[in-house]
Amino acid sequence: MTSPDRYAVAGNPVEHSRSPLIHAQFAQQADQAMDYGRLLCPLDDFKAHIKAFAAGGAKGCNVTVPFKFEAFELASRRTPRAELAQAANTLRFDADSAGGWVADNTDGVGLVRDIAVNAGVALAGKRVLLLGAGGASAGVLGPLIEARPAEIVMANRTVEKAQAIVDRHAAWADQHGVKLSACGLQAPGTAFDVFINGTAASLAGSGVPVGPEVLKPGTLALDMMYGPAAQAFLDWARSHGAVPRDGLGMLVEQAAESFALWRGVRPDTAPVLAHMRALVDATKHH
Ligand code: ATR
Repeated sequence: MTSPDRYAVAGNPVEHSRSPLIHAQFAQQADQAMDYGRLLCPLDDFKAHIKAFAAGGAKGCNVTVPFKFEAFELASRRTPRAELAQAANTLRFDADSAGGWVADNTDGVGLVRDIAVNAGVALAGKRVLLLGAGGASAGVLGPLIEARPAEIVMANRTVEKAQAIVDRHAAWADQHGVKLSACGLQAPGTAFDVFINGTAASLAGSGVPVGPEVLKPGTLALDMMYGPAAQAFLDWARSHGAVPRDGLGMLVEQAAESFALWRGVRPDTAPVLAHMRALVDATKHH
């Protein structure tokens, strides 16, 4: 009997990751033998840990904070969207004879799919405010541009960080006819159609660092977090007439893209998202 193909989510911390549960559902749906676990990596020894995991016969892994930049460096081949992000959330351990390891970043395409398909909001022609210039925001900008909104403003406390990311994406934005700019938190603009929070601000409990004038009635206000970490942002958005959305759909969609890269099949995400939603809601009410 052959043992199932092995994968894991690598991070630190990683014990709260829902990815194993999501991938178990995808595998069951696709009738594939897959063993997907959690891999806690030491902060100062990520690369050796991943190499040992691969040497042990594993086929690939997802990568979460704080290792997405190191994961990108590990691969000999990188998808264009990983190149733009300079970070990877997915590795596929192909043999050297087959071209070597592939690094991809499925966060952005997962976000865009969640907005377009699950939330039913077309991004084309819209005005988008992206808050934050850390790994989370940098990771999604390329695919957001590809969805061809009219404009994307990247607002960050440290303007220089946003400017550097915007500069790296300037040619990509031109190519797609998107007006792209960076700014601070004081005057990011008003009445955006879509507002995406990619900062750790909600986690820190310090409140939303921009004023409600960035919203208008019906603005889709999406936090990349979910559960208690997103709650303050979602409450704030709702109280100002926006349509709040957490990052659970993005989580399921990025996982589906990773699964497709590994297994060649794109799972049906709707039943998995519904299941995960029920789980998160059940936790909230206890
Ligand atoms: P990640 O990789 O998860 O995105 P990060 O690189 O630490 O994490 O980035 C966190 C983001 O949240 C940054 O954009 C950060 O702003 P700075 O670049 O100015 O540091 C933002 N952030 C964190 N705490 C914040 C706060 N209290 N107010 C405003 N922005 C905050």
